[in-house]
Amino acid sequence: MNKLKALFLSVAVAFSISMTAQPKADLKMDQFVRTLMGKMTLDEKIGQLHLPVAADVVTGQANSSETAKFIRQGRVGGILNIKTAAKIHTIQKVAVEESRLKIPLMFGLDVIHGYQTMFPIPLALSCSWDLKLIEQSARIAAQEASADGQCWTFSPMVDISRDPRWGRVSEGSGEDPYLGSLIAKAMINGYQGDDLKKNNTIMACVKHFALYGAVEAGREYNTTDMSRLRMYNEYFAPYKAAVEAGAGSVMTSFNEVDGIPASGNKWLMTDVLRKQWGFGGFIVTDYTAIPEMSEHGLGDLQQVSKIALQAGVDMDMVGEGFLTTLKKSLKEGLVTQSQIDMACRRVLEAKYKLGLFDDPFRYCDEERAKNELFTTENRMAARNTATQAIVLLKNSNQILPLKRRGTIALVGPLADNKENMTGTWSVAADYPKSVSLLTGMREAVGTSATILMAKGTNVVNDTALNSRISIFGKPTYYDNRTQSEMVAEAVAIAKKSDVVIAALGEAAEMSGECASRSDINLPENQKELLKALLATGKPVVVVLFNGRPLSLSWENANATAIVESWFLGSEAGNAIADVLFGKVNPSGKLTMTFPQNIGQIPLYYNHKNTGRPLVKGWFEKFHSNFLDVSNEPLYPFGYGLGYSLFSYGDLKLSATTAKGNQIISASIAVTNAGQFDGDETVQLYLHDLAASVTRPVKELKGFQKIALKAGETKEVSFKLSVDDLKFYNSDLKYDWESGDFEIMVGGNSRDLKSVKINWVK
Ligand code: NOJ
Repeated sequence: MNKLKALFLSVAVAFSISMTAQPKADLKMDQFVRTLMGKMTLDEKIGQLHLPVAADVVTGQANSSETAKFIRQGRVGGILNIKTAAKIHTIQKVAVEESRLKIPLMFGLDVIHGYQTMFPIPLALSCSWDLKLIEQSARIAAQEASADGQCWTFSPMVDISRDPRWGRVSEGSGEDPYLGSLIAKAMINGYQGDDLKKNNTIMACVKHFALYGAVEAGREYNTTDMSRLRMYNEYFAPYKAAVEAGAGSVMTSFNEVDGIPASGNKWLMTDVLRKQWGFGGFIVTDYTAIPEMSEHGLGDLQQVSKIALQAGVDMDMVGEGFLTTLKKSLKEGLVTQSQIDMACRRVLEAKYKLGLFDDPFRYCDEERAKNELFTTENRMAARNTATQAIVLLKNSNQILPLKRRGTIALVGPLADNKENMTGTWSVAADYPKSVSLLTGMREAVGTSATILMAKGTNVVNDTALNSRISIFGKPTYYDNRTQSEMVAEAVAIAKKSDVVIAALGEAAEMSGECASRSDINLPENQKELLKALLATGKPVVVVLFNGRPLSLSWENANATAIVESWFLGSEAGNAIADVLFGKVNPSGKLTMTFPQNIGQIPLYYNHKNTGRPLVKGWFEKFHSNFLDVSNEPLYPFGYGLGYSLFSYGDLKLSATTAKGNQIISASIAVTNAGQFDGDETVQLYLHDLAASVTRPVKELKGFQKIALKAGETKEVSFKLSVDDLKFYNSDLKYDWESGDFEIMVGGNSRDLKSVKINWVK
């Protein structure tokens, strides 16, 4: 093939990808940006690439601050972390009235799971397996944020992670690339709606590109290293899906990929994101990620800024590398004018897409801010969503749902804590407005039952650790009484009660950014409290608050029931009470594996088989297993109980041999054999039994959440096509291969009905 033809083909391929992934080229926008850039000085162009944090703008007088000076000089592209429509209006006014070219600023914030009305943390949200609800939660977050001045959110976080030690698993959708991709798409649709120019939609920023969830040992900001095969088959899908859904921006990650920090990684940003996936939006670094590349060992600020620009970064978050070095680098011939122009163009295009040039104040309508935040309607939506995120892990003797009568002891460090209910990333929330479990339960029982309450113990008894887990103002209300005094008080009320609810787990700030844990057990003092409560002989229902899978083997063996309620947001207490008292039948299913112990990590359902898998079960000498723990998780991916019992019939395929583009249906009868109406998420997994590269023992390929009345049976049917068989082979070509496949359907990734099919080209 001659060079010209090859070039034509690569352009044509890139063009066709971008046509499917991103909206068509907008000629009016192109003309507008071209004309504007024709008037811009080099400093003004570099200024558009600079994203400072609010700091002095918020604390000082907007007009006299250092940042305001830069804004007047046209040397700021946007600002992150300013809150309220009024403040944003003031700053925007400086930009559009006092800078030479009157270019409006973008305002971005971490609107991760709600703005003022907080929804469940993303990990919890994913456990609803309800894409409509997830989209609605992002829609409401966008409505509220845009009413209060924001036009850009640093969400969704789509990093796949298999390591619960990493605190940021709370911000993502768990371990599965297929589910993660659907959720990424739902969130982008929710934020961006059908028209970014509307004043109630905001631009999404997919993060963190890429592989941040695979940091070694789950230690925050740590190194990542993996094969390209694994990247493409197991980690990339949600980022790609987000691009295909039209995400306006992408954020780089802190970690390195293949020995090059993501913010300076040309292969990632230019080859994969832009050329292979056709991403047409702009790329912003994570917070100070450019100067951090010096710490990684790539050179001084000028050098790393050059690397970032050339790799494909358009905007420098807080790092000031672009602002302070690009001019010099241009003079020295280290970067080109067209590289700076390209980045500037992409930032200006984002502003154009948001409609900021038509009306820079379109997101700062103070009337909207007064009327549209934390409304009753939004709180109702948050409550309903929160009930769907709860996962019932254990329910012996059908202790749940509880009766609204008698005496109930509510015990634990998280029983009466409003501020922690929102979990991580709730920067615009008024924490004390959230509903605690105590308030929710009191509201639910009214005068028909008595609730006794005791704290029982602290979240942690180590005061130094306690201050590390309440840095951002979500108090743990550390109690200075001795552990035995507090436990004794709790045991005393337990003895007077018919049932005990133990509200245990983590404080909100024990997950999220820079909240890695090397031990994912319940803190020892909480375990002690639980043991003492169980020793009373009363039934004990553990209600867990946590932002990651925990290691709960002992609790699972001993507690009467376990309710996983994560951090459910503003309406947490009400939502938990809805489930505890049976107003809502829980239906959440885990999206991350819960290990038996920390040594099993990484433990995930879609693992490979190895050459020596277990045949008879643990323990087998010279097979892949541990001496001291089986390979099984405590709770598998997809697991979650309800108050009903669902039984599955035989799995049937429309044919057991297929050719080419045939569509095969897989159907199964699901029966609600319990006493309560309920919802069940029916999951379909696939195993490619022999291929040119090793394939996971199972991969999620479809699911349906169905409602079944008590006693009702429904036939659930899935359509399978060759698209479900595809994977990246060792040439990184996405295709399928003829052979045998196992199709599995069930209510979680472990308990499945299975059949085989032979599918040939
Ligand atoms: C750092 C975090 O990694 C990122 O997720 C967040 O969006 C930025 N800070 C901005 O707050």
